Amino acid sequence: MQDVVIPTCHQMLLAGERVASVSGETIAVENPAKRTVVAHVPRAGAEDVDRAVAAAGEAFTTWRNVAPRERGRMLLGIADALEARIEEMARLIALETGNALRTQARPEATVTADIFRYFGGLGGEIKGETIPLGEQLLSYSRREPMGVVGAIIPWNAPVLLAALKIAPALCTGNTMVLKAAEDAPLGVLLLAEICQQHLPPSVLNVLTGYGHDCGAALAAHPAIRKLSFTGSTAVGKLIMGEAAKRIVPVSLELGGKSPSIVFPDANEDWAVEGIINAMRFTRQSQSCTAGSRLFLHASIFDEFLERLREKTSTLKLGDPLDEATDMGTIINEKQFNKVCAYVQEGLERDDARLVMGGMPPTEGPLSEGYFAVPTLFADASNEWRLAREEIFGPVLVAIRWEQVEDVVRMANDSHYGLAAFVWSRDIGNALRTAHQVEAGWVQVNQGVGQMLGQSYGGVKQSGIGREFSLEGMLDSFTQKKSVTVNLGLPAP
Ligand code: NAI
Ligand code: MG
Repeated sequence: MQDVVIPTCHQMLLAGERVASVSGETIAVENPAKRTVVAHVPRAGAEDVDRAVAAAGEAFTTWRNVAPRERGRMLLGIADALEARIEEMARLIALETGNALRTQARPEATVTADIFRYFGGLGGEIKGETIPLGEQLLSYSRREPMGVVGAIIPWNAPVLLAALKIAPALCTGNTMVLKAAEDAPLGVLLLAEICQQHLPPSVLNVLTGYGHDCGAALAAHPAIRKLSFTGSTAVGKLIMGEAAKRIVPVSLELGGKSPSIVFPDANEDWAVEGIINAMRFTRQSQSCTAGSRLFLHASIFDEFLERLREKTSTLKLGDPLDEATDMGTIINEKQFNKVCAYVQEGLERDDARLVMGGMPPTEGPLSEGYFAVPTLFADASNEWRLAREEIFGPVLVAIRWEQVEDVVRMANDSHYGLAAFVWSRDIGNALRTAHQVEAGWVQVNQGVGQMLGQSYGGVKQSGIGREFSLEGMLDSFTQKKSVTVNLGLPAP
């Protein structure tokens, strides 16, 4: 097995320079598959945030005037550079997140390059309109950048999620201060280094630090003109609260407890495989779109679960850096304990039937890391905590239904509304159901990841705003200005 190249210098990116934190303090980065410290990164605080925001503010005065397609060309340069370093990036992501190299980390590195390629091509699309107010007036609109964007990202797909903020914000002429997640900063720092080789200094600044000091200082900074956050709903509310104090626009991509609705005519292998994908088992279900509430029609309930148990049991858990591994580890001890507590709760319920999985192994190689096993509780109720809260671990609940109205009501009985999945060969039936489900994204007969070009985001407490698309870029990172010109002046 090839070694992971851990960058010797894990410094932050501030004003085009690689820097430590003002305090000199650091944060240890752990390999969750071995519970060993693999690196230290700076622990930024409020003073670092001040410096980064000042640098980004200074850079904005010129970056906003760079022709959009020229900005796009720089992003395309980043895409090329990322493509040339996919393996290096993928190994770093696998090392620090515990996500399996083959099934997760390499696809993440590949999609990251693609994100820069997609948004790099959109520089010419930041268009305004002319408004027909009569022959005596010329009225037009411009889409202008907002200024310094404060971006905060989580650890579950760290490099991809960083790219989803950086590429559209910079394409539209904003500058940025981005805070990486404390649990997965290494890939993001490598991304920052690659970006800096193609950008003027200070356009992008990347800090590493904890949420409660660095993140909170960024959210509260008076010179930030836009906040873009991905993470938990609880922190999303704090960010929105800070934004409300200054009427700063926010984009929030938060949690989910997404329903997967299986009709009797989908009692087939393709649906079983689709459900496994939709549940994101191979990323330990640490995904906001995980289809974690499985609504199975009563007529196929037991048979479908048996197929699901059989197919899931072929997933290979192991060292994330091993090519043969399908499924890696939970990110850290806190999340691991949280997942275990949900499993324990299921095991203690008399009315829950364990179909597969259970508590993590306590001996053997898997006990060295935060390995959680795919777990399924059947005969669940939509009222259980297990069915209502985002577990962010490989714990699936299967709920029985008979009438479509009932399953739609249960699916919508959630404060979340991010993704949903409907499984039926009868497309009319599937689409009628898809249209009634309260979710930002419904997939029919598949459970794949987000696709560039298609707006993605949540309803209800799953968030505000859309990402992954041209419209998402324009809505999130530009503001419209109207200019009205009187053409009817009297002759001089
Ligand atoms: P979190 O929401 O605390 O962390 C996400 C980011 O927000 C990190 O960069 C963190 O440093 C930052 N942050 C934390 N507190 C902050 C504050 N007061 N001000 C500003 N920034 C702050 O998520 P965490 O603790 O890592 O995971 C907890 C749960 O959140 C998970 O179990 C899962 O349910 C959910 N989650 C959802 C994600 C999604 O993609 N929707 C991603 C990560 C977590
Ligand atoms: Mg937290």
